[in-house]
Amino acid sequence: MTTTIDYSEKIPNNVDLKQDRRLQRALESWQPNFLQWWKTMGPTLPTRDVYLRTAVNVGHQGWAHFGHVAMEDYRWGIFLAERDGERRIPFGVHKGEPAWQVVPGEYRAELRRLIVVQGDTEPASVEQQRNLGLTAPSLYDLRNLFQVNVEEGRHLWAMVYLLHAYFGREGREEAEELLHRNSGSAEAPRILGAFNEETPDWLSFFMFTYFTDRDGKFQLGTLKESGFDPLSRTCEFMLKEEAHHMFVGTTGVDRVVERTAALMREHDTDDVRRFGGIPLDVVQRYLNFHFSVSLDLFGSETSTNVANYYSAGLKGRWGEESRPDDHLLTDDVILVDAVRPDGTVGQVEAPALVGLNSDLRREYVADCQNGVNRWNRILEAAGVPQRLQLPSVAFNRRVGVFADLEATPDGQVLSAAEWQRRRHEWLPSPADKDHVRSLMVPVYEEGKIAPWLAPPKKGINGQPFEFDYVHLA
Ligand SMILES: [Fe+2]
Ligand SMILES: [Fe+2]
Repeated sequence: MTTTIDYSEKIPNNVDLKQDRRLQRALESWQPNFLQWWKTMGPTLPTRDVYLRTAVNVGHQGWAHFGHVAMEDYRWGIFLAERDGERRIPFGVHKGEPAWQVVPGEYRAELRRLIVVQGDTEPASVEQQRNLGLTAPSLYDLRNLFQVNVEEGRHLWAMVYLLHAYFGREGREEAEELLHRNSGSAEAPRILGAFNEETPDWLSFFMFTYFTDRDGKFQLGTLKESGFDPLSRTCEFMLKEEAHHMFVGTTGVDRVVERTAALMREHDTDDVRRFGGIPLDVVQRYLNFHFSVSLDLFGSETSTNVANYYSAGLKGRWGEESRPDDHLLTDDVILVDAVRPDGTVGQVEAPALVGLNSDLRREYVADCQNGVNRWNRILEAAGVPQRLQLPSVAFNRRVGVFADLEATPDGQVLSAAEWQRRRHEWLPSPADKDHVRSLMVPVYEEGKIAPWLAPPKKGINGQPFEFDYVHLA
């Protein structure tokens, strides 16, 4: 059974909004504020229409529709994965009890906080990416950027729906705050550090969608396990859309690496700058930056808050149900990253419950490694000997046990002074950024692409690369 969305509604949804007039009115009064936010903080490049995917259904087949739409007319809707009436809480002290359909009073504040923190990241990335359309390397890439942007907008809707539907006046106030905080703002910044960093160029965008959207995938994966069923179902559906965001990152970096390798071979040099390419050491420094700031998003190595979230059944582990343990973890231990007494980078044993951030971060790192392997296969196939790698978990960290030390990408601890002197060996230097920015000239002609990037293997939704994905205004 699938639920079809009623497009005659002001807010497309599969949550039977018309049965709840109060909620409908609350959302309808938030909608103009959202549109105002989109107009002032969303994409700056004026467009007539864009070939976009719109969620229209939550079934296994045909959940999305593709077509040219004006972005301000995009149908940001509210979609939850289908309800499993038999679902039970899979972990924690309430394990085995029926999943909650309303917010349990004793966990109200914690659940609200989890939803607000997740919700805050969604509009933040739209803000970070708002100027990228001005320098898009092709219409195909421009379309992908806008697709990611409208879906992050929809993810904001998803979180705001939960706040309005289940958290009363406090929820409505939080929904307003989600539009008032802005990425990089001095007075009201976004909650998490990585979402206040700039995404000033397309190499950063591809790294962001690879590494930072992937953090989103893992966070959503843990909330999908939540005992609070509406949150679980919302996140399950969001994960569907999130897959495309990571595809944009994965294949974006693929195509940078492919182009760079081709230029290296053609001109028999590592320094492809004067041939309009991005040298591999610059790619590595961008990778180092985005990986390390994304690691910070997982929080401290040990956390009693997260232990409490788990025991309460609010936030689970990645792949909770396939874990071969008791799903209570009260007697288990885990190795967490730590600074050894001699000042070097290592691991110590901690109770499994307080080490859950480390558990999730480890799953994330393993997933990130897949991309690096893939990019290295492209280099290998091109006959180029250099390889990319993930830096040490201690490198460039601002959160957790490594926040107060400096380490090289190999995990060698350095003095603060030496780090300052050498940091641009490992992080993008002003010269790297200048070079990358100098390549960011827009290419808006159908079937054409900027010289620093290889074209994709295929287009979107069966369309060719040569397609009118975007009509500029
Ligand atoms: Fe998202
Ligand atoms: Fe995303």
